[in-house]
Amino acid sequence: MSKSLKIDRQRLISKIEELGKIGALEGGGVCRLALTDEDKAGRDWVIARMKSLGLTVRIDQIGNVTGTRAGKSDEAPVMMGSHIDTVRTGGYYDGNLGVLAGLEVIACLNDAGIVTQRPVAVAFFTNEEGSRFAPDMMGSMVHQGHLDLETTLNVVGIDGSLVREELERIAYRGEDPCGGMRAHAFLELHVEQGPILEKEGIEIGAVEGVQGISWTEVRISGVSNHAGTTPMSMRHDAGYCAAKIAVFARELALRMGGNQVATVGAIDLKPNLINVIPNHAVMTVDLRNTDEALLQEAEAELHHFLQKLTADEQVSIESTTLARFEPVVFDPEMVALVEAEAKAQGLTVKRLPSGAGHDAQAFAPNCPTGMIFVQSAGGISHNVKEYTKPEDIEAGANVLLQVLLKKADSED
Ligand code: GLV
Ligand code: MN
Ligand code: MN
Repeated sequence: MSKSLKIDRQRLISKIEELGKIGALEGGGVCRLALTDEDKAGRDWVIARMKSLGLTVRIDQIGNVTGTRAGKSDEAPVMMGSHIDTVRTGGYYDGNLGVLAGLEVIACLNDAGIVTQRPVAVAFFTNEEGSRFAPDMMGSMVHQGHLDLETTLNVVGIDGSLVREELERIAYRGEDPCGGMRAHAFLELHVEQGPILEKEGIEIGAVEGVQGISWTEVRISGVSNHAGTTPMSMRHDAGYCAAKIAVFARELALRMGGNQVATVGAIDLKPNLINVIPNHAVMTVDLRNTDEALLQEAEAELHHFLQKLTADEQVSIESTTLARFEPVVFDPEMVALVEAEAKAQGLTVKRLPSGAGHDAQAFAPNCPTGMIFVQSAGGISHNVKEYTKPEDIEAGANVLLQVLLKKADSED
């Protein structure tokens, strides 16, 4: 019976579209930055859906939300989940798919009247994106004991707001202790956010792990002066230094090759005027690699370059680590299970690493954790054009359903 169980594609797609209307951007895409009014509206909507499916909803002290469906036993649940916050220029699928597909799996179990051995739960975690408050994966990292709650509540966002105050303002500072609920296993369905599955015409990705992430904020202080009268030899130009760092980061990644990537995604200049030499620049550098030693090498090179620039340009440069995650390897048995389930459903499958960070990586050290990828059209994500075909969503959600059933009903 449960082997032939299938999710309802139309129901899942319509829920994705409904949630996508909350925080919708003119011309397409979604903006639900963490802990904003739009995030609150999205949270309220998902909780209403959880309740309509009969789940018991709990909110923890960092605003993570879990909906649980009782099993025959009261052992630790098998959890599915992801996030519903988005970047400023987000799409319908990043994160939202994992949460809504989890709820579709629950709807499917309800329709079939199936009671699993273990409870099953669907969670969405606070601020996975890290665009407003660093680090990313904030809620799941606190949930799984990798970040301290108090320190995290005091994080200041890019707009000067405080995590604690924003959680209170939107009424999502819950009572549950973080990590009070242990998972027997964790499963996350996600869009690939890269080009590989589509390029190779493969339907399902069995994710082997997540590459390491290093986020640095760099603050440069120089001297502001007249753009016309200040000789080039007498400048201490924070804008020039920021540009040098951006070029260095790109060239570093190209020189290192392999899986090294580097991105300068934000630069803020002051006073940001056409005829004034900038005296201040704040920028971010995102470095990632699947190999921890190589990631450390990239960080050391960046650090060395900042020191050299300080001396060459006679400016002051401060750098702060905003996020640092070592590469994560998922449980080989979970990778094999995802792969086997995809094959059993007649789907093509490939093992691959994830280039993006995910809530699942917070769970990986603590319980068997698996991720299922489906194609991203054109490999595009963190972009309003993000798109995944309905048939791919259906395929991924059906693999999620069967892996969930295996873990919820088996002894191990
Ligand atoms: C977060 O999701 C990231 O990979 O940047
Ligand atoms: Mn995501
Ligand atoms: Mn994302």
